Amino acid sequence: MSFNDAIKALSADALRFVKNKSVIGLGSGRAATAFVRALGAKIRADDLDVCGIPTSLQIRLVAEEAGVPLVDMGRMGSIDAVFDGADQIDADGNMIKGGGGALLREKILARAARRTVIMADRTKFSRKLDAPVPVEVHPSARGFVAAQVRKMGAEPAIRRDARRYPAFTENANIILDCDFGRIDSPKTLERRLGGIAGVVESGLFTRRPSVIYRAGMRGRFEII
Ligand code: A5P
Repeated sequence: MSFNDAIKALSADALRFVKNKSVIGLGSGRAATAFVRALGAKIRADDLDVCGIPTSLQIRLVAEEAGVPLVDMGRMGSIDAVFDGADQIDADGNMIKGGGGALLREKILARAARRTVIMADRTKFSRKLDAPVPVEVHPSARGFVAAQVRKMGAEPAIRRDARRYPAFTENANIILDCDFGRIDSPKTLERRLGGIAGVVESGLFTRRPSVIYRAGMRGRFEII
């Protein structure tokens, strides 16, 4: 039994936070994929009236295959819950997200959701955040944003695909992965990054999730 088994098991457990007649956000990545597959099976088994809003084409494809009905994100003022993974989580529940490039929609849904459920394996947990922060940037602002981020003490790197081409988000923007080292004040950094012209969104998520699942070895998991 591995982390993957634990992620599968906790995804099944997280279904208890899905209420009938609700609209839920579907995060991106492996944990979200396991959850969406479990959700599709539950919708069929219990004949639930639940609609999902995907945060990326990656999870949209999984949801379509799993038979989860989808609704348009642009029409929603708020949603009931969002289920997502994370790249790093600190002791206060601050997170770095955006490893898959879906940070903009993930952030919108995290803010629009009445409940946020995060599912991650134990390698993602750290006392303080210290991983590079993905920052989605309009391509024309890359030089300006990079200069501002350097003044803030970070070294930005344009994210590239496997062939070294710049990686574009689904919103036709680029991502600067910004290494700030240890982040002592994630809220302040999130605010400062958001204040730079040309920054579309940062991968710092500083609103504490309602529920955090931590997957361990041998299929075990806990809520922390
Ligand atoms: C997508 O942009 C990310 O925020 C993902 O939620 C994050 O990378 C977690 O992915 P895994 O569940 O695959 O680790």
